Formats: sequence, structure tokens, C-alpha cells
Amino acid sequence: ITTPVPVVAIDGPSASGKGTVAARVAEVLAYNYLDSGSLYRLVALAAMRAGVALDEEPRLAALAATLPARFEGGRVWFDADDVTDEIRTEACSAGASKVAVLGAVRAALLGRQRHYRRAPGLVAEGRDMGSVVFPDAAHKVFLTASVESRAERRYKQLMEKGLPATMESLLQDLRDRDARDAARSVAPLLKLPDAVLLDTTSKGVEEAVAFVVDFVRNPAPEA
Ligand code: DC
Repeated sequence: ITTPVPVVAIDGPSASGKGTVAARVAEVLAYNYLDSGSLYRLVALAAMRAGVALDEEPRLAALAATLPARFEGGRVWFDADDVTDEIRTEACSAGASKVAVLGAVRAALLGRQRHYRRAPGLVAEGRDMGSVVFPDAAHKVFLTASVESRAERRYKQLMEKGLPATMESLLQDLRDRDARDAARSVAPLLKLPDAVLLDTTSKGVEEAVAFVVDFVRNPAPEA
């Protein structure tokens, strides 16, 4: 009898800080780490490079199925190119949320995501980790924060990079993206009944990391 490799599924909206928290949790637990959003970003990038429109579902699914992507040393590679920064641009972010509504694209990425489930464990982060990709995950976390605090976080990040931004446009952008992620018919973002809620509106990264690590190490006793 083999016990399944444990999965910590962390789902939540854009700019909730779940990327930072998930990566740190993986480090602390010495688990593998999957940033599933970067796969949707890579599909958008591949489409832009190949001149494929963001609504050509079969062609996008073909790109998703053959994505020449690698994650190595904290960097994201597309063939021989380091695209770590490029996939974070507005164009790739907007493109990712468009290709992510397409069922054939999501299906084409499923096997690749499950491939990351290797011993001693996996921390997987995204929108549908607990619902679709790893429904049997032992630990499910819904990580969120108020839209205002998420906009504020993104504002600070952009300022640090010297990029222009206004709070109004960031708020609008997050509200639009939340609506799109939650309203889509395939794998919408939702808080599962078996997920614990982690609201980071007034929590720092270390506090959020400690919460998840504690949840993994000390599961609540069965009621
Ligand atoms: O987490 P992120 O911002 O990098 O995700 C980029 C886009 O991909 C976002 O619009 C939502 C989508 N996404 C998804 O639909 N399912 C996932 N598991 C992860 C991301």
C-alpha cells in the first residue's frame, strides 16, 4: 500500500499574497512547489509569440499541451529564454486570464500540473488546486484579503519597480479580474467547504506562513 504524496492546495484571488506565502510554505516544509498561474501566463506568452489569438481554443490548447516550459532555480524558462519577468507584464496577466476561461486549455494543463506531485509533498497555488487539480489534497487553504489591501500591495510593488499606477485603476482591474475568475463556467474561483479560510488583510507574510505550516503539521481533530 502506498500513501499518496501530500498536497497543500492554496487557492485565492489575484494579489492576495498567496504566491509569496505558498513559496515560503514550500520552503519551510521542504516540499515541491507549483505556481499554476505561471502556466496560464506561459500559454498567453506562447500565443503572443506564435501569433495565435487569445480565443482560438483548439490552437491554444495545442500550445498548452506542448509548452516548452521549465522552472529552475526560481526562474521560469521558455525554451532557452528566461521569461520570469516577461510573464508578469500586464499583457501576459490579461492574456492569462483570457486563456484561463477555455476548458480545452485547462484540460491540456491538467497532467502537467499533477506531474509536480512528488515526494515528500507539494504546495500548489492557484485558483482550482483544491477543486479540480488536486481534489484529494489533505490540506486546502483559501487565501484572500480585502480588495483594497490587495490593490495597495500591488501599488507598492509597482512603485518599487518605478512603474506608473493609480489606486483607482488597480482597484478596478482587481475587481474585473475577480469577477472574471469567479464567474467563469470552468473551474471558477471559490472557497470550498473543506478549505480553511486565511484572510491576510491585516496579516504579514510570516504570520500567514506560520498559519499554513501549523495547519499542515497539526490538523484539526475530526469532529
Ligand atoms: O495567479 P496568477 O495571477 O499568476 O494567475 C494568472 C491567471 O491565470 C489568472 O487570471 C487566473 C488564472 N489561473 C487559473 O485560472 N487557474 C489557476 N489554477 C491559476 C491561475
